[in-house]
Formats: sequence, C-alpha cells, structure tokens
Amino acid sequence: MVKTKIAVLISGNGTNLQALIDAQRNGKLRHGIIELVISSNSIAYGLKRAENAGIKTAVITKKMAGSQRAFEEGIREELQKNGTELIVLAGFMQILSKAFTDAYPGRIINVHPSLIPAFCGKGCYGLKVHRKALEYGVKVTGATVHYVNEIPDGGRIILQKPVRVKKGDTPAVLQKRVMEEAEWQILPQAADMVSKRIMKEKTADMEAYEKERIDKLVEDNSYPGRGIVIGRTADGAKAVSAYFIMGRSENSRNRIFVREGEELFTRAFDESKLEDPSLIIYAAIRRIADKLIVTNGDQTDTIYDTLKEGGSFEDALKKRSFEPDFPNMTPRISGMVQLGEDDFEYKLSIIKSATKDGTKIARYVFDYESEPGLGHFIHTYVCDGDPLPTFAGEPERVDISDDIASFTERLWTSLDEDNRIALYVRYTDAVTGEYEDRLINRMEKQV
Ligand code: GAR
Repeated sequence: MVKTKIAVLISGNGTNLQALIDAQRNGKLRHGIIELVISSNSIAYGLKRAENAGIKTAVITKKMAGSQRAFEEGIREELQKNGTELIVLAGFMQILSKAFTDAYPGRIINVHPSLIPAFCGKGCYGLKVHRKALEYGVKVTGATVHYVNEIPDGGRIILQKPVRVKKGDTPAVLQKRVMEEAEWQILPQAADMVSKRIMKEKTADMEAYEKERIDKLVEDNSYPGRGIVIGRTADGAKAVSAYFIMGRSENSRNRIFVREGEELFTRAFDESKLEDPSLIIYAAIRRIADKLIVTNGDQTDTIYDTLKEGGSFEDALKKRSFEPDFPNMTPRISGMVQLGEDDFEYKLSIIKSATKDGTKIARYVFDYESEPGLGHFIHTYVCDGDPLPTFAGEPERVDISDDIASFTERLWTSLDEDNRIALYVRYTDAVTGEYEDRLINRMEKQV
C-alpha cells in the first residue's frame, strides 16, 4: 500500500521535525513518509535537519510573500506540487486562515506544548506557554497533538501526555522536559495514527471503484456454483448477460444448455440418467418485451409471468424463496436487463435464507445504471463446502470486454474443469435488441 505523503511545516529549531525523522528511521512512523519540509523562516535550523535527512525543503516567509493570502497560496502551491496528504505543524509559528484549514479537513495536525485547553490560543506559543504555566503554578503540564481548524489550538484533540512541573523549573527547563517527555513521543505517534487513517481511506476509495477480470474472479475457486454476469461492453453499445452452471452430483452434471428461439433452457444430456428434474431443469433465459431475464431456476418463469401481468421484478421475487435443498439452501440468483435504451439499466437479485435453519427469507435487489466496461457478477456459493456457503455481500465488479469470443473463452477456461457444465454468453444491442451469442456445453464440447 502507498504510504501517506507528509509535509512538515516548521519555523525554528525543528526538534519535533527531528523526532518525526527519527520515528521514520526506526519504524515508528510506518504509515506515512515525510516528503517535504516547508519553513516560514529562511534561517530555521530545522531546514538543515531536513537536508541532512535528504528531505526536500522549501522556504516561504510571510515577508517574501507580502500578505497572509499570498503566504498561504505559496504554501498550498508547494503542497499540491508534492501531492501532500497530511500536513504536520511542528513548531510552526504562524496562524493559518479558515480558507486554508478548510481546504484540508482532518489533514492538518499540530503539536502544542501544554495540555489544551490550558495555556493555548492566539499569542500563546513557544516559551510563552511554559512561562504562563509556571506563573499559574500548575503542578502538571504536558503536550497536545490536535487537528487544526481556524481557531488557534482549537481543533479536535488526538493525543495528550502529561509532564510533571518541578521545583526550580525555568520556562526553558520546563520546555525541554515537555519536549523530551511528551512532544517528541506523541507527535510521531499521532502522525502515524492519522497517516494510517488516510491510507485506509485511500484504499477504501480505490477498492470501491476497482473491477476485476472475470477469469480472475473464478479461477482458484473450485465451486462458485451457478453464476450470472450482467453489464455493458466497453464501447457502450451492448448489454452483456452471461450464465454458467457448475455441478457436483451426477444428476446435476448430466446437463446441457439448449437454445429455443431467443430462450435458453437446461436439459438432461442423457434423459435415461435423469433422476430428479426439479431444481435443475428450467428456462435460464427468457425475454419479455424489452426485458431480458436470466436466473438459476424456475423463478425465470415467475418473473416472466409477473411482468406479463404488469408486476415488477421485485413483485415476482417476493413470491419465491431459496431452493429447498437443505442444508445447502441454495440461493436463487436472478438478473434482468432493461433493453430499449442507450443508457440501459439492470438488476441483480439474490434470495437466501436469513437464518441457519431456513425459517426466514432475505431478498436483496441490486439496481444498476449501466456503465461502459463494467459488469456485476453474482454466484450461488462463496466456494465449495459442506454445506455450501451462500454468496454474501454485493455482486462483484467485473471488467467487460467488447469481444464476446474472448470474454466467453476467458470465463470458460477459468471455471474449474471438473465442475463446469455449461456456459452461455449473449451480447445484445441495447437499443435494437439484436444479439450475438456463444454456448459451450461440457458434454458436447461445442461452441
Ligand atoms: C515546540 O515546543 C512546539 O510544541 C511549539 O514550539 C516549539 C518548537 O520547537 N509550538 C507551538 O507553541 C505552536 N503553538 P521545535 O521547532 O524544536 O520543534
């Protein structure tokens, strides 16, 4: 995973920056990487510390910039150029405006040398903080790392650490102890925590929009069971619907797909060997008006009949349950493509047992606006098992190619050789309804 890119903003000695650099070296700052140091002071010793560590530096002073606005713009430009994701203020003696802090919500942290809300706020920084603490006569002080908003030292607290005040302490002595015992510990720790959170957000973002090739999703899975893929070709022109069946028992393996007009049926390959036709012999694909139905059972007919009577896909599924094959309680998976429009839509559904003993039913419908190059894949089982574990979660995102031949080939060859039985793929022009298809039966080995 890619680490969170950190920029450290300093103004002076940079001992807190040093603590961050050391933490990076000894592995305590694992989720972030310091890629940039910006100083608001051209002679800050912290710049030397950054250079010694091989970190890129930039100097932006308020004087050079001419105004607070230009100063902040200069900083933002530098941050953007470097792809900064987390800003750490480490002894940065400038106040940042609301416009600046609003641009990085939850992405700026600061270390302050007191236990906030004591001895903080505008004008209370550096040695002054410790002078005030001593004047007040507190017995305990410490340091705070907090998120930065427009209120000086006013953002949500991330970490705090107390430090004892000793008799005879001067502001400088107290400052040193607070730094050593608190700041240099909690700043790297907080920087790592926040970096980790940002890293997680980034991966969650990526995962949400990632898609996988169909062969990658089924290879190394000996038994996804029956599967439906619905989606749209990358060129945007066609609706893709694919259905495959796998089987473990002889009765289930003794099957082929047969086209009848526009419809697709499962049939016994050798009628004499057929033991029980229920659950395994059905119409897998039917079309009614501008709707194409694909399912793993006779709910295809329920959907067809319900639509014919003016009902909906959901109305039809409401009438059905999972399969009565206890203890597997095989789910009923169904799909429907709405043809007739350029920007077509489709649905996928799964009906499964909501309880271990099959006393309650759960029905899910996933409703998609089609997107070129994207499809969704649902299958009956997570993998092989006894009982077979029912598919869980959202249908998987699949990459859909423009080429029916390679899509079919990739899916068929990656399905477990022992268990695959038949595959049917149809690419339909979503507007005209014209289609091209491919059919593979293990028994006949025909395409
Ligand atoms: C540190 O004590 C830091 O907490 C404080 O200034 C010192 C800078 O030290 N920052 C503030 O008071 C901010 N409000 P450093 O330059 O050696 O890190």
